[in-house]
Amino acid sequence: MTIQTPVIAGNWKLNHGPEETRAFFRALLPEVPADHVGTIAIFPPSLSLAAAVEVIATRTDILAGVQDVYWESRGAFTGEISAPLAHEAGAQLALVGHSERRHVFGESIEETVKKVRAVLDAELSAILCVGETIEERESGAAQGVVTGQLEPVAGTLSQMELSRVLIAYEPVWAIGTGRTASPADAAEMHLHVREVLAKHFGSAASAIPILYGGSVKQENAPDLLAAPEVDGLLIGGASLEPSTFARICAIPS
Ligand code: PGA
Repeated sequence: MTIQTPVIAGNWKLNHGPEETRAFFRALLPEVPADHVGTIAIFPPSLSLAAAVEVIATRTDILAGVQDVYWESRGAFTGEISAPLAHEAGAQLALVGHSERRHVFGESIEETVKKVRAVLDAELSAILCVGETIEERESGAAQGVVTGQLEPVAGTLSQMELSRVLIAYEPVWAIGTGRTASPADAAEMHLHVREVLAKHFGSAASAIPILYGGSVKQENAPDLLAAPEVDGLLIGGASLEPSTFARICAIPS
């Protein structure tokens, strides 16, 4: 699997069961030519992963992933899913540390680190989500918070693993709120992320895709995608409807 930028990713959260998933792709596939620029990744609920994998089987430009994993591979962990089982079920990527995991479900930075390790050890790619709250931004702590989310993960990565690591900058105040970071704000934080990564990995950091997420819509997507250091988008609400998502996927071409 090769991931090419720009990466246009859809995080469906708790939306679209297996039947809606099949219907989504039946509508999307004819609208997105297989030779489009970049990679498309969809993160359905894990109950719909098999349906997604089945309908995109002939499309190497479209990948499916899971929204979260537990760090143990298997065992007495009722309700959890693991990276090796997701891999076996056809997932190629996993989101880790999404702000809803951190802020709604109380996931700690230590837990996020263990999840990234589990994802990479299972040969999947990881999209590590980072981002500050509105209080943190207003108090001038945004870059420090993002550094604190990145550093503990970066410290565990080998150079060999970098080709399977992506970062998504998603300011918490922009997720599902209709309030988007300006392209300049996004570029500023993406540059900061790149600098933190460069401290660990030198010039190899320049190849790590950094996506922006938070109230991305068809209207603001072109300017965000054109901003410096923005290598793709992680889209929630606007990824649920096939024709809207297809139009965003068409922007890079
Ligand atoms: P949103 O969600 O696009 O609905 O703001 C983005 C995300 O949570 O990944």
